[in-house]
Amino acid sequence: MSAKKSSAAFAIAAILAVLYAVPGVSESLDNGLTAARFDAAEKLQRPDNLDEWIFLGAVVGHGYPNSEERQFSADSPGMIQVVQMEPAAYRYLKQHGKYADGTMLALSFYNTQQKPQPEVDGIVQGELASFEIHLLDKQKFTDRSAFYVFPNDKDAIAMIPAGNNCVSCHKEDGAYDATFAQFYPQLCDRLLAGALHAAAK
Ligand code: HEC
Repeated sequence: MSAKKSSAAFAIAAILAVLYAVPGVSESLDNGLTAARFDAAEKLQRPDNLDEWIFLGAVVGHGYPNSEERQFSADSPGMIQVVQMEPAAYRYLKQHGKYADGTMLALSFYNTQQKPQPEVDGIVQGELASFEIHLLDKQKFTDRSAFYVFPNDKDAIAMIPAGNNCVSCHKEDGAYDATFAQFYPQLCDRLLAGALHAAAK
């Protein structure tokens, strides 16, 4: 290679290196899903439009029981867990009947209000405590599923390393591709042939 050509090649390589180091560059998947954005250290960036994600379902309580006795009561309701899906991923799911690589689902943990006004006879959603993301991408991750826990003060977070118990529980108990589709009514219809309605009969 001539000196001129090799310096041009260096310049191009330098520009590419800068481009790929810019935080917020998303990987373009051929299915058009670009919402999962990573920084230069491969940390997933906090999505800034969770309020626009599609609501899939909600669970109230303490999660899996620690003992045979249920902890849930009106005095100790636990948290309200809300599950949402990134809108472009949801559109793909509606069109193709399966998850695309790049699909993100969020599980948000909301406190409950202690003294709602007016005093309603029920459990009222309070402020957001934290949220978690489940990102599905079989090209990128050996487990296909990557899990991220976002505390309120972090803008980007590294995935929980492979072989974690998030993956094992989700693979074992989640009804569709390591997600708990059986708890989300629209997904039951689309992915599990209406299993929710069948179970209710
Ligand atoms: C013992 C089982 C279990 C473990 C371990 C677990 N989860 Fe889950 N996860 C659930 C259940 C059940 C749901 C359904 C929603 C709910 O109950 O709140 C869920 C739902 C989710 C969702 C919503 C999308 C989906 O895949 O259905 C996300 C995101 C999530 N979990 C993240 C995590 C992360 C991050 C970890 C590890 C730090 C984790 N989970 C560990 C049981 C588990």
